Amino acid sequence: MNAPIRVTNNLEAFWMPFTANRQFKSNPRMFVAAKDMHYTTADGRQVLDGTAGLWCCNAGHGRPKITEAVQKQVAELDYAPAFQMGHPAAFELASRLVQLTPQGIDHVFFANSGSEAVDSALKIALAYHRARGEGQRFRLIGRERGYHGVGFGGISVGGIVSNRKMFGTLLTGVDHIRHTHDLTRNAFSRGLPEHGAEYAEDLERVIALHDPSTIAAVIIEPIAGSTGVLLPPKGYLERIRAICDKHGILLIFDEVITGFGRLGAPFAADYFGVTPDMMTVAKGITSGVIPMGAVFAKKEIYDAFMTGPEHLIELFHGYTYSANPVACAAALGTLDTYAEEGLLTRAADLASYWEDAVHSLKGLPHVIDIRNLGLIGAIELEPIAGQPTKRAFSAFLKAYEKGLLIRTTGDIIALSPPLIISKAQIDELITTLGDVLKALD
Ligand SMILES: Cc1ncc(COP(=O)(O)O)c(C=O)c1O
Repeated sequence: MNAPIRVTNNLEAFWMPFTANRQFKSNPRMFVAAKDMHYTTADGRQVLDGTAGLWCCNAGHGRPKITEAVQKQVAELDYAPAFQMGHPAAFELASRLVQLTPQGIDHVFFANSGSEAVDSALKIALAYHRARGEGQRFRLIGRERGYHGVGFGGISVGGIVSNRKMFGTLLTGVDHIRHTHDLTRNAFSRGLPEHGAEYAEDLERVIALHDPSTIAAVIIEPIAGSTGVLLPPKGYLERIRAICDKHGILLIFDEVITGFGRLGAPFAADYFGVTPDMMTVAKGITSGVIPMGAVFAKKEIYDAFMTGPEHLIELFHGYTYSANPVACAAALGTLDTYAEEGLLTRAADLASYWEDAVHSLKGLPHVIDIRNLGLIGAIELEPIAGQPTKRAFSAFLKAYEKGLLIRTTGDIIALSPPLIISKAQIDELITTLGDVLKALD
């Protein structure tokens, strides 16, 4: 028998996602291992994880409970059909999750990513209204600068221009409210910005334009992450909730990055005291170890489907890997780790230390704003004239050389370390980043 051929040093075939492929392939950055707060590079250097991977490894890396749960599950039951069949880990996980969700949100639909969770939630919203005899509610409302993954539903309600402009007409029946970013009034706010609750009134404008009776759902990120950490002004989310209630519109919080402890509470809904009708999650649900996403829905939504003959399928939607046993095991191991180490609330203890640390970068060259909440930080840089994104990307490359992983979007640096970070590691992160900023052109 021929031995399998392994080609390890050809970078051409892999078309990398959301990556400058040619730049990467001319100067690759490879991780080969990870433990706790650090990655190991192919050339043997340690890199401090300032971004929890992609906002997902909330428990840090190489955590034993998660690894063991995955190993055990894959040996015991590797796969079970997701349709018309079940397995215990899926029911256990859903039951555990609804103990964490805000009161009234008590059903879980499983997907495999944030993008799938978003598309699932949008479809459930449309089907819910139709099941109740209000099928004329077909419009979906998102927000400028919103990110809801890369499915056609997600990019349609999303508001990031470069994610939309290449991909045709997108979904019809979608509109957007304005974003809340307002550097003139809110630059260098500590925590939530004071000004801009009135931006929520833009929702009334869009609703009036289309007539409330046509609108199914509003989807927003409580904190817009991928567009560069845009925090909701004080009172804004409460106002959005009230407007949706007034018009019978479902409110979906996309908690793909804010879920699972990022703000020092299990979910942003808890942190802000605003309960949506559905929540989409992914990332932190398995601490990034195995792909998984989910929609959390209120009982009324689930119940609206539970009618008609009992042998009929109620919702014609799902994925081959919905509630995949190995992903469920990873999630259960993750929830155990979060519980044992108090990670879903740890960010609350660190938040003020983190805030001081991040804001100590004020005054460094090109820094035009710094913002923070929970264990999230963002540093907005003045773009190089005529070359947007270049300055932040060079900060990313310099940070990597100095042993720190940051994330950039546009000319904004986003920070979201694993929730296990120590104060000494926060100091190290900020010192390294300060050195990077001082050295930027
Ligand atoms: C708010 C939000 N929604 C959806 C997604 C998409 O998740 P995924 O990349 O798992 O499809 C992301 C990813 O960053 C996100 O931040």
